Amino acid sequence: MIDFSPTAEQKRFVELAREFSANEIRPVALEYDADPVYPEEILKKAHELGFLYTNIPESYGGSGMDHVTHYMVTEALNYDCCAIGQMIGISHLATAPILLSGTEEQKKKFLGEMTRGHKSACFCLTEPEAGSDAAAMKTRAEKKGDKYILNGNKCYITNGRDADLLCVFASTDPEKGTKGISCFAVPRDTPGIKTGRIEDKMGHRALFVAELFFEDVELTEENLIGKEDQGFKLAMMALDRGRVNITAICTAISQRALDEAAKWANERVQFGQTIGSFQGIHFMLSDMYQQIIACRALYLQLGWMLDQQRRCTTEAASAKCFASDAAMKTTTDAVQILGGSGYMKGSVAEKLMRDAKLTQIFEGTNQINRIVSGRGVLSGKNLLF
Ligand code: CAA
Repeated sequence: MIDFSPTAEQKRFVELAREFSANEIRPVALEYDADPVYPEEILKKAHELGFLYTNIPESYGGSGMDHVTHYMVTEALNYDCCAIGQMIGISHLATAPILLSGTEEQKKKFLGEMTRGHKSACFCLTEPEAGSDAAAMKTRAEKKGDKYILNGNKCYITNGRDADLLCVFASTDPEKGTKGISCFAVPRDTPGIKTGRIEDKMGHRALFVAELFFEDVELTEENLIGKEDQGFKLAMMALDRGRVNITAICTAISQRALDEAAKWANERVQFGQTIGSFQGIHFMLSDMYQQIIACRALYLQLGWMLDQQRRCTTEAASAKCFASDAAMKTTTDAVQILGGSGYMKGSVAEKLMRDAKLTQIFEGTNQINRIVSGRGVLSGKNLLF
């Protein structure tokens, strides 16, 4: 039997997250968007409620939520501002490789230190010449005796300026392409790490994105996550989880767009009646709602697959494309319904539309995700039923 009823605990977490978002994020969302501020106070309060490390087991200081619950909470926390919402869940992607392949000692050390100190992590994969083609990375971790010497640079790293724990992918054998990449957990205070440019972005403005430079950073086996040369798969497995996360974030963006549009449609009077009484608006609202319920069903299903320890590469890539394209459409339609009022700077709809755009680009452009999804379909694997 398939049961969609949330447990009492899931309801409690989601209600708490909605309340937190309404009370703590909504009042500052537009302000932080106009003039980006690191949401330190919000993060502290989110930490007290157990929202910072939802995916990390309690034994390493997290809240130990299963994937389904984590994604439900993610939707709730991203409703009022997906930049601040993502800052709260920022360590989800970067800690995935450690959770998947770290030793018990590494989990205790890296995750334990992070959760105890209210710190955060970042996922360092992208480079100037290695975006969609992640395996083309030039960052090198050269083995010298019992050390790895890390040199290179990463770009567009979300939370790169503030993270204390860096999950870095580097080539350990440049001849071997995807089979010569390793994953390292690198504490921020390791000598040789420098922060470069902080990007000024169109949307997700309270989410800080930075360049990072590594100059002769000395690492050891203790920093190596999983086996040498097996980091590429770990990056891809982390992205499977991240792409479901984006599906939940997009659901939140679309839901907020629909709520803004419906509110306006119920209030705005033209031709002697509210514009919500016109069928043209019904059609648009219905199209938005159709996408939202599909997106929500997708992240619930994929969360369930991950909880069953089933691989969901094809599904996660498909869901990420569907939900981010939906977010772009629903937010564009929300601006359309709000008309001139929605297009003006400082309107929620305008912010949502800018925020939606990035979801079609990060964690694999939608073109790359369609390749992943299409390849999966051709392989005949990963089909749920
Ligand atoms: N799970 C497990 N293994 C996987 C896997 C997965 N999800 N995906 C691939 N693999 C394995 C493959 O099976 C293959 O192994 P074998 O050779 O043993 O069969 C190996 O990894 C190599 O995979 P591919 O042959 O598919 O590699 P490719 O180079 O042809 O293509 C790609 C890879 C799918 C295009 C990949 O490069 C990709 O996803 N690119 C996009 C990168 C991306 O999403 N970047 C976003 C960065 S993070 C971000 O944006 C957010 C931020 O702020 C940090």
